[in-house]
Amino acid sequence: MMNYEQAMQEVDAMLTRIVDSEVDVLRDASRHVIGAGGKRMRPRLTLLAYQAAGGQDLAKAVPVAAAVELVHTATLVHDDINDHGVLRRGRSTVNARWGRTFALLTGDYLFTKVYELMAPYGPLNKEFASATVALVEGETLQAAAAKAGQLDRETYMRVIAKKTAVLFSMAARVGAILADATPAQVDALGQYGFNMGLAFQIVDDILDLVADSQQLGKTAGLDVAQGRGIVTALAHDAHTATADNHNGSSTGGYGRSVAVLDVPVAPVLTTDPLDAFKAKMMSGNYIQEGYQQAEQLASLAVLALNDLPPSSAIVELTTLAHNAVARNH
Ligand code: IPE
Ligand code: IPE
Ligand code: MG
Ligand code: MG
Repeated sequence: MMNYEQAMQEVDAMLTRIVDSEVDVLRDASRHVIGAGGKRMRPRLTLLAYQAAGGQDLAKAVPVAAAVELVHTATLVHDDINDHGVLRRGRSTVNARWGRTFALLTGDYLFTKVYELMAPYGPLNKEFASATVALVEGETLQAAAAKAGQLDRETYMRVIAKKTAVLFSMAARVGAILADATPAQVDALGQYGFNMGLAFQIVDDILDLVADSQQLGKTAGLDVAQGRGIVTALAHDAHTATADNHNGSSTGGYGRSVAVLDVPVAPVLTTDPLDAFKAKMMSGNYIQEGYQQAEQLASLAVLALNDLPPSSAIVELTTLAHNAVARNH
């Protein structure tokens, strides 16, 4: 019987195998991004949820875990087109290396391969359908809010719930379902995934601001520069609260926001306006506030695990939730 690490290796092998297109660019670009690794958080959730819910044969959960990672990878390829990312998982992005057209098609290709992997899994496809719908809605809400300079905290939470947390939740749910868990256990593991996904995205948005591209292995500073992320939302609300007669003002994105932010200005040793903007964003309490919220959400995630019997998988899931906050890349 396969152990957890072997199952994760099998997920990787399956991902590489499945993107076997006879069209060179689709195969090469897919293997370029898949082969770069990444944290593989979502397939881990699927396998650990399977074990936590009493599943005995990890091999059964491997194709579904791979499909979850494929959904995630497809969204990254498309996301880097939209966000103009040039670095991903320590490598050049597909759009940077092959251009936007092929990046768009590679993302499409990865999404369509999910159908193939999931074909034998009947009802689980509903879980995939609702999660991928939420994802597209979240990305679209985010783009609309950023464009309008109206990313407040409430909108932000709605965005990250849809674009990130629902996929984490689904990853855990499908693992539990495959293990024939009770509906209460499926929901508990889904709740764990959801709250840990929220925490994960909040921290990701903070890292976008405070870490550099080399550390992250992906282009840093994109979100804050484009009016997205937790800090943008907190700054937006702080500003609206203190300047509600400031007609038409907004904090939506670099350029539009610089003139209207009421954040104390930290000493800035550069004249680059984006650096100055980032320094302003970092000088409030927003980062600390964001971390506090992420920690609360990670604790909530762990709390949901009380509905399951103790096991080594539960210990692992607990560590994963704490690492979602304590990570530095
Ligand atoms: C990046 O996800 C996108 C977010 C939801 C923040 P990950 O940080 O899990 O990316 P990889 O898979 O490790 O590269
Ligand atoms: C990545 O989102 C894509 C989805 C979550 C759907 P982000 O744009 O926030 O993540 P990074 O920072 O590029 O990884
Ligand atoms: Mg994005
Ligand atoms: Mg991005």
